[in-house]
Amino acid sequence: MPDDAHPQYSDKGMPFRRLGPSGLRVPLLSLGGWLTIGGSVVGDPVKDIMRTAFENGINMFDTAEDYSKGKSEKEMGRVIKELNLRRTDLVISTKIFWGPRDGHNDNGLSRKHIIEGAQECLDRLQLTYVDVIFAHRCDITVPMEEIVRAFNYVIEKGWAFYWGTSEWTAQQIEEAHHVATKLNLIAPVAEQCKHNMFHRERPEKEYAPLYEKYRLGTTAFSPLELGILTGKYNDGIPPDSRFATEGMFEGMVDRAEGQEKIRKVRELTKIADGLGATPTALALAWVAKNPNTSTVILGVSSVKQLLENIKALEVLPKMTDTVMHQIEDILNNKPAIEPNHGRPLLDKFGRL
Ligand SMILES: NC(=O)c1ccc[n+]([C@@H]2O[C@H](COP(=O)([O-])OP(=O)(O)OC[C@H]3O[C@@H](n4cnc5c(N)ncnc54)[C@H](OP(=O)(O)O)[C@@H]3O)[C@@H](O)[C@H]2O)c1
Repeated sequence: MPDDAHPQYSDKGMPFRRLGPSGLRVPLLSLGGWLTIGGSVVGDPVKDIMRTAFENGINMFDTAEDYSKGKSEKEMGRVIKELNLRRTDLVISTKIFWGPRDGHNDNGLSRKHIIEGAQECLDRLQLTYVDVIFAHRCDITVPMEEIVRAFNYVIEKGWAFYWGTSEWTAQQIEEAHHVATKLNLIAPVAEQCKHNMFHRERPEKEYAPLYEKYRLGTTAFSPLELGILTGKYNDGIPPDSRFATEGMFEGMVDRAEGQEKIRKVRELTKIADGLGATPTALALAWVAKNPNTSTVILGVSSVKQLLENIKALEVLPKMTDTVMHQIEDILNNKPAIEPNHGRPLLDKFGRL
């Protein structure tokens, strides 16, 4: 097929940021496939969602070996082929840890599973490389040197350009950096962590030293707290929603903690109204506003949701200090910074 047969990519005004300290530029909004692509959404609707994303500047797609037991990668790979998207236009990330089978060596971060798992991901995606490969969790049963060496092998083979971590502790990320520095290997460039208005301690407090020291970037997941921040659960559980169809979320909104979140969503909706926005767009813009966020990974089960969520980009310039303070007053959950014990704080250049 001639090269010009590829659909032409236009960023459509999508802001791009570097993925942490790497040279890779990623769109501020990306699209993920957990529970949705290959799960609750299959076939032509996946194509509609990915095409709409691409046509709106979202050219980064995130998946994992275990999403819907490999079906997420298969669906994404199929659609990339069917839409004839140019590979260089895309940023694809996948994750290794929970393999689609149960064998002792089909899970975790042994050299064996990282390498075999990466090959299987590429097969399912029908790609020769991904841009970023994440360790979906840390495997405390494997020596860190083995993990870092194995991800470096995957990169040297050309199966991925960069590697990152997902929900590792700051201490584990530090250890990976120490190993990489000592052995002259490539260190992780990004953390795929949960970050939203209700989940802040790890990305905002625990990782704070890593942003300064390693310029770590985050690919923020569950930015809508699984949908709660859209307001869709304010008056009960809609029958076709994630909380109705996925047993693992039973009781999420009924418990006192869930009810407190809903109370806050109602308050946040008033701020959103004042900005002419939805609470969904406000919540996504709030994560995007954080300078350590490289990309906010959207999860959607329809084109309609995707288009609503992209409106976060219109809200972003409206997130003034005043608005951010109003939001902070409602959330009332800002992580405390480490005490400085009377020592005056310095700016990032070490100046008073
Ligand atoms: N590394 C990790 O461990 C990890 C963990 C989780 C997620 N992730 C990544 O992050 C991505 C996003 O996570 P997430 O799916 O949990 O994100 P989320 O934004 O918190 O939740 C997405 C869900 O909320 C609902 N929703 C979204 N937009 C909506 C709208 N405009 N109106 C009404 N409902 C809406 C949809 O669910 P329903 O329509 O089904 O109700 C949708 O599937 C995943 O796809 C995955 O790539 C990574």
